[in-house]
Amino acid sequence: LPNNTHSDAFVFFGASGDLAFKQIFPALLGLVRDEGLDIPIIGVARTQWSLDEFKKRAEESVKTHGGDVKSEAFKKLLSLLHYVSGDYADPKVFAQLRKELGDAKCPLHYLAIPPFLFSEVAGQLAQSGCAENARLVVEKPFGRDRESADELSQILDKYFSERNIFRIDHYLGKEPVQNILYTRFANSIFEPLWNRNYVRSIQITMAENFGVQDRGSFYDSAGAIRDVLQNHMLQILASLTMDPPTGQEHEALRDRKASLLKSVRPLDANHLVRGQYKGYQSVPGVKPGSTVETYAAAKLYIDSWRWEGVPIFIRTGKCLPVSVAEAVVEFKRPPRETFGEIKAIGCGHMRFRIQPDVAIALGTRVKVPGDRMIGDDVELVLTRQPGVDRPPYQRLLGDAMEGIADLFTREDIVDAEWRIVGNILDNVTPVYSYDQGTWGPTEAEQLFGMDGRWLNPSPK
Ligand code: BG6
Repeated sequence: LPNNTHSDAFVFFGASGDLAFKQIFPALLGLVRDEGLDIPIIGVARTQWSLDEFKKRAEESVKTHGGDVKSEAFKKLLSLLHYVSGDYADPKVFAQLRKELGDAKCPLHYLAIPPFLFSEVAGQLAQSGCAENARLVVEKPFGRDRESADELSQILDKYFSERNIFRIDHYLGKEPVQNILYTRFANSIFEPLWNRNYVRSIQITMAENFGVQDRGSFYDSAGAIRDVLQNHMLQILASLTMDPPTGQEHEALRDRKASLLKSVRPLDANHLVRGQYKGYQSVPGVKPGSTVETYAAAKLYIDSWRWEGVPIFIRTGKCLPVSVAEAVVEFKRPPRETFGEIKAIGCGHMRFRIQPDVAIALGTRVKVPGDRMIGDDVELVLTRQPGVDRPPYQRLLGDAMEGIADLFTREDIVDAEWRIVGNILDNVTPVYSYDQGTWGPTEAEQLFGMDGRWLNPSPK
C-alpha cells in the first residue's frame, strides 16, 4: 500500500466499548468537521445493536465529551456509520463486514479490543479478504514483557506488513510532547547545551491526583511500570534525549528514537522505588494482598557519548497531590560560587510542561535589586499554550488513515522499551505504602544521593 494513499474505509472493533465511547467517536467527529473525512465508518462489536442504537451511542459519546450533536458535521458522521455485530470467532461477521466495506480497497482496521482477541480478529480479517491492502491500528498494552510483545508482533506480522501496522502510544499525539522535539531541533541554541557537559540531570514526572478508579482488575494485572512508565514516560524521555533525525527518509525520526531507546541502560533494581497508595487494596478488582505498584520512581542512564553519567529521574504515580506531566532538564551549576550563595539554589533548567497547563520555560538565576549580590530563581516562559488539550486521537487516527507513521511507536521501539524495564518487572523490589495526596514514598528521595532532589511541580 503506497504511503500516500488515504484509507477509504474506517473499521473499528470494540465499537460498543469504553475506548470507542471515550476517544473514537469524538475523534471521528473532529476529523469530519476539521478535515472533511468522508469514508464509510464501520463499527464492529459483540453487542447486539441496531444501526440506530449504534448511532445513539455515538450521540451519547459526543454529548458527554462536549461535542455539538446539532452540527452539520455530526449529521454527516451519522450518515457515514455502519454497524456489524456478532462474535469475533464467527466468519459470518467478517463476511458481513466485507459486504459493508463495499468497493473500499484499502480500509483501516482499528483493534480497540483486548490483545488476547488480536489473533482471532486479524486471522478472520485475512480469511475474509478484508486485510488485503489494509492498515491496522492497535492499542497498548503491547504485551507484558519482551517475549509476549514479540509473540504479539509475530501474530500481527502474519497478516499485515510492519509498515501498515500503527501502534498507538497516545502521548505521541499530544501537542506538547511533539513540541519537545520541535523546540529542540528548530533552534540552534539548545543543542550545544544538550549533553553531559552542561546537563546535570533530567527529571520526568507524570503524576495523577486520582486513583485507579473503576479499572482495578486491569490495573492490578499491570501496575505503574507496565501501564505508563514502559511506554508514555520512555517516549517523553526519548523525545528529550534523542539525536536529531538525519536525511529525508520517512523512517528517519523513528530510527533515531529507536537508537536512543536501545542505548538506555536496563533499569537496575537498586535504582527503582515502588509504592502503593493506602486504600488501593480495597478497590474492586484488586487482589487481596496485591503488591502491584501504583507509584514508581527510577534512575536511568543512557550509554552514549552525549549522555554518559547524566542521571535521569523518572516517576509516576496515582493519588499524588496534583495531576501534572512535565520534563525538566536541569543544567549544571557554574564551576565556582562567585557570589558565595548557598549550594541549595537552583542552577538553571528548561521545563516542558505537558499538562495540564502547557508551557515551555527557561529557568535562570538573576540578581534581586539591592546592595548585595544575591539572586533569585526566575523562569522565562517561552510559550504558554492554554487550551492545547486537544485529545490526541483525532491527530493519530487522521495520520494513520494517511499512512503517516511518525507519531506511532514501532515494533523495535516497543522491544527496546521492554528491554529497559525487563529486569525489574514483577515484584523484584519492595512496595512501600504512601498516603494519598503525597508525593509517594519518601524512599524515592534516596534515588538522588548527591545528585539533587525532586523538583515537585505545582500547577501554575
Ligand atoms: C493510560 C493509562 O495509558 O494513560 C492510564 O492506562 C493513565 O492509567 C493515562 O491514566 C494517562 O493519560 P493522560 O492522557 O490522561 O495523561
